[in-house]
Amino acid sequence: MSNQDKAIELVQLTDPHLYADQSVGLYGVNSFQSFEAVVNKALEQTMDVAVISGDLVHDESEQGYQHLRQVLERLKVPTHLIPGNHDDAGFMQSEFGQGVISCDKQIRMGQWQLLLLNSQLPGQVGGHLDDKELRWLERALTKSDAPYSMIFLHHNPVPVGCKWLDPLGLGNPEKLFEVIAAHPQVKAVVWGHVHQEFDEERAGVRLLSTPSTCIQFKPGVEEFELDYLPPGYRWFRLHPDGQLETGVRRLARVPEGLDPGAAGYGI
Ligand SMILES: [Fe+2]
Repeated sequence: MSNQDKAIELVQLTDPHLYADQSVGLYGVNSFQSFEAVVNKALEQTMDVAVISGDLVHDESEQGYQHLRQVLERLKVPTHLIPGNHDDAGFMQSEFGQGVISCDKQIRMGQWQLLLLNSQLPGQVGGHLDDKELRWLERALTKSDAPYSMIFLHHNPVPVGCKWLDPLGLGNPEKLFEVIAAHPQVKAVVWGHVHQEFDEERAGVRLLSTPSTCIQFKPGVEEFELDYLPPGYRWFRLHPDGQLETGVRRLARVPEGLDPGAAGYGI
């Protein structure tokens, strides 16, 4: 069987929220240990490529990115990083420009291409795709001969059903969906940011979000509330005929120390 006939095994990890200080985290959960545990879980499966969809380093510290590199090197597959609202995109670019762990935005694998967008709006929690990013996406879809494409970004381009969280998603999703509508090879749009699982379909495009490797937000609530679900990641199997299988795998238990009364953050 040639590589072209093989399904691609992709892993998405999101929102690790690492710090320079490896002993801290969010709401009593040590974010470094939790990230390591989810990576260990992901290493139980076959993997060809990984995407880490933002909020990599909560305090935007250089040491935080070194910790990230130290853990991600264990995946031993091409790993692609997207900035979230909590990242230093410039530092990411200089630290991870090229190499096995990279900020490459366009990845071709067999019949598929992965397109990674930067939706960060510096200083803001919510996101935005600027004209340059949208033009880049349009060009990448027009020029590639890949029969199937997937888009990754940090912010949610559709409401996920949390009243407090939805206004903090992507501010201009209509522009993104305009581009997608003109390119039916786009099979899925995948994001992080919302720290919860979401799986719907619109006009033939799968819309997916993924639990954080650290703390979870409760779905369907009006005000901020933590969810007592274990951290996890999303797996994808991308078939050469365009079929896409996906699911979420979680750790067996909620991380030790999870405490809604402990120091945390809004989002
Ligand atoms: Fe986050």
